[in-house]
Amino acid sequence: MGSCLSSQIKAESPLHIGANLFNRGEGNDSSDGSSRASSLSIPQTPRTEGEILQLSNLKSFTFNDLKTATRNFRPDSVLGEGGFGCVFKGWIDEQTFTAARPGTGLVIAVKRLNQEGFQGHKEWLAEINYLGQLYHPNLVKLIGFCFEDEHRLLVYEFMPRGSLEHHLFRRSSYHHPLSWKLRIKVALGAAKGLAFLHGDKVKVIYRDFKTSNILLDANFDAKLSDFGLAKDGPTGGKSYVSTRIMGTYGYAAPEYMATGHLTAKSDVYSYGVVLLEMLSGRRVVDKNRPSGEQNLIEWAKPYLSSKRKIFQVMDARIQGQYSLSGALKAANVAIKCLSLEPKSRPNMNEVVRALEQLQDTEETAIREAQQNASRNANAGPKHRRRSANDIGDMKPAVYPRPSLSPVHT
Ligand SMILES: Nc1ncnc2c1ncn2[C@@H]1O[C@H](COP(=O)(O)OP(=O)(O)OP(=O)(O)O)[C@@H](O)[C@H]1O
Ligand SMILES: [Mg+2]
Repeated sequence: MGSCLSSQIKAESPLHIGANLFNRGEGNDSSDGSSRASSLSIPQTPRTEGEILQLSNLKSFTFNDLKTATRNFRPDSVLGEGGFGCVFKGWIDEQTFTAARPGTGLVIAVKRLNQEGFQGHKEWLAEINYLGQLYHPNLVKLIGFCFEDEHRLLVYEFMPRGSLEHHLFRRSSYHHPLSWKLRIKVALGAAKGLAFLHGDKVKVIYRDFKTSNILLDANFDAKLSDFGLAKDGPTGGKSYVSTRIMGTYGYAAPEYMATGHLTAKSDVYSYGVVLLEMLSGRRVVDKNRPSGEQNLIEWAKPYLSSKRKIFQVMDARIQGQYSLSGALKAANVAIKCLSLEPKSRPNMNEVVRALEQLQDTEETAIREAQQNASRNANAGPKHRRRSANDIGDMKPAVYPRPSLSPVHT
């Protein structure tokens, strides 16, 4: 988080690489020459910076506004840090949008670009171009921006539950593991966000679908953020957009990595990766695991369609919360999204339908399990302890215990 502490670190702070990007700089894309002027895609991509800023309908903040709103970008208001820069919590008046006293008015998240140069500016502008014109319950709301001298900032609605990445992978007393019910809810919300982007009216490829870009509001409704890499979908009869390869290791589709040919099905692959991370509670690439388990997809694939083995993939922290058939259905969606052949992957509307069905059947199963449990409780004085995140006393399907059944058999 060092680079968030003051602007002087700008020059010292390399891109936040982590598991991130091969190359965040994109130079000259050749979008098959035509997608920028597409008349079919909404938003119609404007050509100039001035047009983008004007069309966006966003509030233009001064740097001073945001400095005051974040209490001078105080280190203790840092919400997180990514490749673009640091994100700070701040407060503004709901009516006037001027800085407000901490704890009053509207809570905002202010993302401050900390890299010099064209690429950062380009991503900043892409965010305004897309999020400034797209509205959907599963996309984070961009409130405004600051464009003053060398300063480039973005102002979003504050998402009180932070990112899905935090909930899945940060082990802390602050974050309880997400329950199975919430995992389905988040997976469904994120799928709806992508389905909206891919729909005929919008036709946008998101290109950076990963757990840190899925933010959660107070009700655990998922919202996609970060459109810096988004692209208009192919037009003029083309089946793909040709781009420089960008994205995040582990999440980018193999055919896109090999050819640079980008389609909506590249997002579907990334969705499959995230779904598998949600089922397993494991990162797609994790160098801290034993060698055969470092690549989640390779490790998990043989277990995903097996009634006897699926439990080995499922996150132990949600044991007892899901039905066997529910786990298999969710795993089946992930398998299909992860097909090596893009045409075999479902589209996001199909994913949404599958997850809606899963949500219904799991809720029924949970209700029935709860009714059985309360009947049993009435019949005798047995008590079971429930954890904070239990969504019921649903008994786990009867699986062999992990200790009896080693992962590598
Ligand atoms: N609107 C918001 N409300 C609350 N927290 C936010 C908001 N936007 C971002 N954050 C927090 O800031 C962190 C950094 O976000 P950012 O999008 O800059 O980087 P990232 O997604 O983690 O990484 P990358 O640069 O690789 O996309 C997020 O993981 C999240 O925890
Ligand atoms: Mg992000």
